[in-house]
Amino acid sequence: MKRNIAVLQGDGIGKEVTRGAVEILEAVAQRYGHDFEFQYGEIGGGAIDSTGSPLPDETVEICKNSDAVLLGAVGGPKWDDQPAHLRPERGLLKIRKDLNLYANIRPISYYSSLSESSPLKKEFIEDVDFVIVRELTGGLYFGKPSERVEKEGKEAVVDTLFYQKSEMKRIIELAFSLASERKKKVTSVDKANVLESSRMWRETAEEIAKDYPDVILEHMLVDNAAMQLIKNPKQFDIIVTENMFGDILSDEASVLTGSLGMLPSASISTNGPNLYEPIHGSAPDIAGKNLANPIGTILSAASMLRLSFGLEDEAKAVEQAVETVLEYGLRTGDIANGQPTITSTSEMIAEIKANLLDQEAIS
Ligand code: NAD
Ligand code: IPM
Ligand code: MN
Repeated sequence: MKRNIAVLQGDGIGKEVTRGAVEILEAVAQRYGHDFEFQYGEIGGGAIDSTGSPLPDETVEICKNSDAVLLGAVGGPKWDDQPAHLRPERGLLKIRKDLNLYANIRPISYYSSLSESSPLKKEFIEDVDFVIVRELTGGLYFGKPSERVEKEGKEAVVDTLFYQKSEMKRIIELAFSLASERKKKVTSVDKANVLESSRMWRETAEEIAKDYPDVILEHMLVDNAAMQLIKNPKQFDIIVTENMFGDILSDEASVLTGSLGMLPSASISTNGPNLYEPIHGSAPDIAGKNLANPIGTILSAASMLRLSFGLEDEAKAVEQAVETVLEYGLRTGDIANGQPTITSTSEMIAEIKANLLDQEAIS
């Protein structure tokens, strides 16, 4: 069966890391006899430069006609002073909306070989294993109005936090169903002491909890959650939260694993192809230097194999190859922890690929 994969490389290290994930998917195709076809589409700053739009219609078409989408990252200083509609990030938000990617699943998993890569003490991060379920198509990111205004003759601004209850329901429902297959605990993170939207979120979580009697529901205010993530991360199983809180908490949580460059994500659609992307950005400070950690993107490709194609063995093989090269001691700069020998992006990709193909020789 042929599978069409849309690849949106984007800007900065987006190009370097997606190249890696494509190489790994090609190696999977070779080892297991699959037929993956890659179609490339433009998004972000590069797309603005060549077409005038951060998300050309053609890219949306390529994605809609695909079985799954792989994305790198968008953005960079070159486009930072553009008006809102001409910012690279607008392309990313639009593809999330156009594909109805309502849920972004961000697993936070501990690798014992990286225990020294995190600035946090080993005993606090050992065996950490939780998932942030982030609402992705609502909240402050999409509410209207979002604009500069004049109020009583004074310069002012408005952003809008808007949610339909149904949008809360579907994401919290997903969080409970994931928890029921894991450690059976949902931590719903909000700011219910201040925000009306959070009070509706909390109510909704309570309603859904009734359908999952074996799952424990706990509410946590977001400021406390930011602290608890560092103080006692082992308490978490599934964290479910609205769009912006999820964005911020997941970058924070990446420190538990050693680096932002390690974290994959899967964005789940209500009705079409899912999208897989690392949680990090285009990292302008290291872009083009062959220094980026490709593992977050490669693990995102593994999620694609599992969730979009039902290829569990293949997904596990990729994850195993990543684990093995980390055990060998290969380290890009972000996880090197002062170690003198730094592995380049291309070398890391080549080693993961070689390991994946070696597993075949062994088995
Ligand atoms: P960033 O995630 O790009 O980088 C933050 C820090 O982490 C930097 O020091 C960077 O070098 C490091 N880092 C990130 N990914 C890494 C990797 N794979 N390997 C090694 N180190 C890595 O965040 P930022 O600097 O705040 O944002 C830069 C640009 O990226 C902005 O334009 C922002 O809007 C955009 N951005 C895009 C996405 C996305 O496309 N999904 C996500 C976040 C930020
Ligand atoms: C992410 C990024 C995006 C977000 C930006 C670039 C719009 O930070 O994917 O986490 O905030 O969702
Ligand atoms: Mn982010």
